[in-house]
Amino acid sequence: MPENALTEPDHKPVLVVDFGAQYAQLIARRVREAGVYSEIVPSSMPLSELLAREPAAVILSGGPSSVYAEGAPQVDPALFDQQLPVFGICYGFQAMTAALGGTVDRTGRREYGPTRLQVADDHGTLLRDLPGSAEVWMSHGDAVAIAPDGFTVTAGTADTPIAAFENVDRRLAGVQYHPEVAHTQFGQDVLRRFLFDIAGLTADWTPGEILVEQVAAIRQVVGGDKVLCALSGGVDSAVAAALVHRAVGDQLTCVFVDHGLLRAGEREQVERDYVAATGIHLITVDASERFLGALTGITDPETKRKIIGREFIRVFEQAAADVAQVEGGIKYLVQGTLYPDVVESGGGTGTATIKSHHNVGGLPDDLTFQLVEPLRTLFKDEVRALGRELGLPEEIVARHPFPGPGLGIRIIGEVTSDRLQTLRAADAIVREEMTKAGVDSEIWQCPVVLLAEVRSVGVQGDGRTYGHPIVLRPVSSEDAMTADWTRLPYDLLSTISGRITGEVDEVNRVVLDVTPKPPGTIEWE
Ligand code: XMP
Repeated sequence: MPENALTEPDHKPVLVVDFGAQYAQLIARRVREAGVYSEIVPSSMPLSELLAREPAAVILSGGPSSVYAEGAPQVDPALFDQQLPVFGICYGFQAMTAALGGTVDRTGRREYGPTRLQVADDHGTLLRDLPGSAEVWMSHGDAVAIAPDGFTVTAGTADTPIAAFENVDRRLAGVQYHPEVAHTQFGQDVLRRFLFDIAGLTADWTPGEILVEQVAAIRQVVGGDKVLCALSGGVDSAVAAALVHRAVGDQLTCVFVDHGLLRAGEREQVERDYVAATGIHLITVDASERFLGALTGITDPETKRKIIGREFIRVFEQAAADVAQVEGGIKYLVQGTLYPDVVESGGGTGTATIKSHHNVGGLPDDLTFQLVEPLRTLFKDEVRALGRELGLPEEIVARHPFPGPGLGIRIIGEVTSDRLQTLRAADAIVREEMTKAGVDSEIWQCPVVLLAEVRSVGVQGDGRTYGHPIVLRPVSSEDAMTADWTRLPYDLLSTISGRITGEVDEVNRVVLDVTPKPPGTIEWE
């Protein structure tokens, strides 16, 4: 797989040391929301390597272990001799205590969920913005019994007398609870107090700054060479391409493969609105017949995905060859890989491997492009902010995620053009009504699924019908790893149901999926 050609941003990062729970990404996001660049590193990274990254500060994250358990990840005590600001959270708070000579007790009690934090009379610096007490989110077994020498304890809970401490002179602080989760009151304030008042950092990580930095980096790498980008209609590739276009203008050609599995209006949105906003040179390849042919008779979800991925690559390769013939050789390929993909594939640095399924569906190794991945240090919300900075239409920037295989994995059963037409009509109604009701920003995405192999009896107009159900799958999520079903207003559901059964032939029933993830995935296939 070709490696990413771009370098990392030159901001000194706040390094979040990942102790193995889901919290590290959230902490890094919150740090960036405060306007400070942040990256995640594994707890197995040796101190020398960590220091070589020239961190502006270090945050030790939460994790599932007990500090005394065999093999539990530890903090190298030498970290605290580097004059570096360090903030410990949950497990990180305990690991920090142990490394600095304090004591962590196995209390045998677990504190989990919302807990009342009592702040000491002297709030210190870290908890300066808090009232005398606040609700915080806890998730731990052990507890700090004796704070390290030189530290002031600034808060406790009923079960955990030492729940926050600080040593401002040494720029060290920690909390037992999770300031990064939304359920914790004043969590972001605590993080800001650490970053700005204890670590002494400044907020300089803004969309405008990212834009300037990335444009310069892309120009430097690409020089006068030609670049190609596959647009999917989604936010990531749209922003990545717009960024590259801002940097190298007409050296970029975009290819949009219409695989016939798109939703109503999506192709027009790219061809008309996106091109109008960016001035990008776009080639659309209409390959819907080819995809439909390849999917004939296929009902297995993974086989569908493989076929769609394979056909995509074939079509894209041909398009790339055609472009190369007109434009001359193409050296670079733009991909909209995001930071969570980089972290999850074991990376975190510019040399991580790329997940094979990502975006373009697994490009072959012998592809002679070098990858340009201008979003590989960014989280989704930062990509959206960057898109706005680039002047992209709100309909594209605010778009919910939509899977690469498109409606192909939302028809349960064989994909046919009639079924696509049915699903497209139902989906358009759902999106229209949700936007009208103003709930788009409350949900992560809402797959609309056609159960093409299921029929049920209904009564419509004057007669009995034997039609298909449509499933609504509205979900709320932070990152699609876990999700809950969104409690949409009944009136809205009723309007959607009435319109679908009234306006879409073949559909006589609308059902709501009320399954969280886990156990259910977001998509049905
Ligand atoms: P699941 O269904 O696994 O979905 O809970 C998690 C997120 O991933 C999207 N998704 C896909 N995206 N190709 C993609 O590009 C795929 O094959 C694919 N399958 C699921 C899904 O829409 C959700 O956002």
